[in-house]
Amino acid sequence: MDNRQKTRDLKKSEEISVGLDIGTWKVCAVVLSQSSESKVPTILGVGITERRRGKARHGRIDNIENTIEDIKEAIKNAVNQSNVDISSVNVGLMNKFVKFNESRGLVSISSQDKIITRSDVYRVLDDAKKIDLPSDYTIIHILPQEYIINNNVKDIINPVGMSGSKLEVEAKIVSALNIDIKNIGLCLEPNGLSIENIVLQPLGTGLAVLDEDEMELGVAVIDVGELHTEIGVFIDGLLKFASTIQVGGRYVTEDIRVLMNTVFSQAEEIKKEFGHCYLPSLHQDRQIMVSGTKTRKPLSFMRSQLCRIIQARMEEIFSFAVEELKSSKLMNKLGAGIVLTGGTMMIEGVEDLGTEVFGMPVRVGLPSDLNYGGLTQEVNKPYFSTAVGLALYGLKNSTTVEQSKNGMTSNKEKQNLFNKVIEFFKKI
Ligand SMILES: Nc1ncnc2c1ncn2[C@@H]1O[C@H](COP(=O)(O)OP(=O)(O)OP(=O)(O)O)[C@@H](O)[C@H]1O
Ligand SMILES: [Mg+2]
Repeated sequence: MDNRQKTRDLKKSEEISVGLDIGTWKVCAVVLSQSSESKVPTILGVGITERRRGKARHGRIDNIENTIEDIKEAIKNAVNQSNVDISSVNVGLMNKFVKFNESRGLVSISSQDKIITRSDVYRVLDDAKKIDLPSDYTIIHILPQEYIINNNVKDIINPVGMSGSKLEVEAKIVSALNIDIKNIGLCLEPNGLSIENIVLQPLGTGLAVLDEDEMELGVAVIDVGELHTEIGVFIDGLLKFASTIQVGGRYVTEDIRVLMNTVFSQAEEIKKEFGHCYLPSLHQDRQIMVSGTKTRKPLSFMRSQLCRIIQARMEEIFSFAVEELKSSKLMNKLGAGIVLTGGTMMIEGVEDLGTEVFGMPVRVGLPSDLNYGGLTQEVNKPYFSTAVGLALYGLKNSTTVEQSKNGMTSNKEKQNLFNKVIEFFKKI
């Protein structure tokens, strides 16, 4: 079919953004739109495909051909549902593939009234960007941590409108290896796609499942996927810490496979259908019979037996996350507790187990919890969080037709200035 025939008419001020999560277990594309009339983004379409054999083992793209095919399928489904032509996408990079550098920026305020403006903030962030970076790295984010005015007024989150003659910023500079960016591009190009933004994954996931109050109060988002658990800590609306742990749902399936003496695919089905991970909240134990096939023998077990297997592994995953949070020294600043997400959080009992292991309030975060319009029911599973968050990130960093026309400082110019710095919830 001619793509142009299918493309829906976009309003002049409507922005479209696509998040593409190239995960180890699945590839998922989410199309969002935002128009100036509506305050909330609209979900227009979703495409998801389970990874083919030879799925990535380390989170890095290690099989370009399979990845190209998986992306093709996910994008095709998202295009069909949304009727939007997709030409560029926002993609994520795991924390373990990026480098963090601490940096300081400093500018003097030259205006007569010495009132700090947005443009001063952009200048100081631009100054912070000037760090010695190996030539094989590219900056993907500048994350301001605090602003300082006249050397002594510290801990400022938003200095716009304040008075001062000298503005400093302490920022984290996030950069990625050029080769990783190139390899993502190599999987996109054959699909006629280009990279809109490369996004540190916990930043995107946080956008999808955390509300602004949680981010202000202090919260950790923990995304437990197939082979990786990504942690992001937000305090005062800013990303303060990120980390990747090499554990995820595949380890749970492997334990079931080994301990129940079955094959991987059957263990995966058992996990999804009967899995529970907290014995005290498994109120009704029962016998489960799984019929056999030519290649699989029939199985019979108590649900509590399965629960014990899963609980042991999930406890370990959560304990690793606690260790990471302790190492961040931010554990006692999580006023809003923990938000769990990622496909593995589909297992029943994760909130109860999480509350016990983390010792603080825990909830499971779904992208559909926040305020969206459109096909919200399509994304009400925790494995959609990253793709939705990447698309949201794109919306926050895109240019509308109107903005460019008005000749105001367009987001595009801002992007050039900051190399796509995130403003991140703080409307400066
Ligand atoms: N209904 C379910 N019950 C239990 N686990 C599930 C369910 N559905 C999916 N999962 C598990 O979720 C995991 C995949 O989660 P997710 O899609 O977040 O991972 P990913 O982003 O592709 O991988 P990664 O982040 O590790 O690269 C798999 O281990 C899968 O078995
Ligand atoms: Mg993931």
